[in-house]
Amino acid sequence: MATAATRDTAGTTAYGTPDATGDTTAYQRAFDAAVAADDRIEPRDWMPDAYRATLVRQIAQHAHSEIIGMQPEANWITRAPSLRRKAILMAKVQDEAGHGLYLYSAAETLGVSRDELLDKLHSGRQKYSSIFNYPTLTWADVGAIGWLVDGAAITNQVPLCRCSYGPYARAMVRICKEESFHQRQGYELLLALSRGTPEQHAMAQDAVDRWWWPSLMMFGPPDDASQHSAQSMAWKIKRHSNDELRQRFVDICVPQAESLGLTLPDPDLKWNEERGHHDFGPIDWTEFWDVLKGNGPCNEQRITQRRRAHDEGAWVREAAAAHAAKHHGEARHTGQTGAARA
Ligand SMILES: [Fe+2]
Ligand SMILES: [Fe+2]
Repeated sequence: MATAATRDTAGTTAYGTPDATGDTTAYQRAFDAAVAADDRIEPRDWMPDAYRATLVRQIAQHAHSEIIGMQPEANWITRAPSLRRKAILMAKVQDEAGHGLYLYSAAETLGVSRDELLDKLHSGRQKYSSIFNYPTLTWADVGAIGWLVDGAAITNQVPLCRCSYGPYARAMVRICKEESFHQRQGYELLLALSRGTPEQHAMAQDAVDRWWWPSLMMFGPPDDASQHSAQSMAWKIKRHSNDELRQRFVDICVPQAESLGLTLPDPDLKWNEERGHHDFGPIDWTEFWDVLKGNGPCNEQRITQRRRAHDEGAWVREAAAAHAAKHHGEARHTGQTGAARA
């Protein structure tokens, strides 16, 4: 785990599970050394139970956010203003489904099944990002989501490419590349509207007005109210605090808003020479906790739609399982196993 010397040539560790005495001291020491050395923890490595549980919770929440996040934008696919815009939006929404798949697969390496995770999402025992509980009222919302929501996601996720858990870090590399495309398409869409007719400009401004504050909330509660932050940073799952990332995002967005010809809805937003950052106004944390508790404008609609999509997809899962079983049977019959064919 900690050094090359403890790994065999296949990349698995020389340590398996603790011996019969249950003494994990040596494993814990090797784990701590691996984290300190910025080495990656891999699925077959020993890891503390709390580290595993934290990763399952975080990766599952991330995966759920990707697939629930398809809904607000899919709402506009049939009403996209041109074939080009429709093709771009369909590709983007499909990318989000793909992100969900990478992440559910990453979570499965920790010993949980996708069924189990989906069940927890559907029964409200696991969460998804609260941002997707806001409605997409106009076409400009597709632009604001791309620019601000995908933009905030990238700010959050780029450091996760260096997360201590290997499968999560590797999934994030690919996801971040795609998120970067999403952010640009949103920016380009808003730019077109901002430079369009006065009505289009007003529509773009209205969307930014509605999405700005919820986007800042995407970084989570302030550092002093964030339950899991300190431990996650010690484990190098997280590399920066919520407030640090939020500040970084504000600093990135201010000049972009200027280039867009749009304003950010915060009268307190101004450059602070001394800090070398923008100051910004207070966030309405009551709204944040309220939406998190289930009282946002679309919480119920999102989860109902998700459950329905899952139920309606049952026949696909059954057909895929039957197909896999049939091929597995054929392979056994001809003496081929999955491993032999690989
Ligand atoms: Fe995504
Ligand atoms: Fe995205």
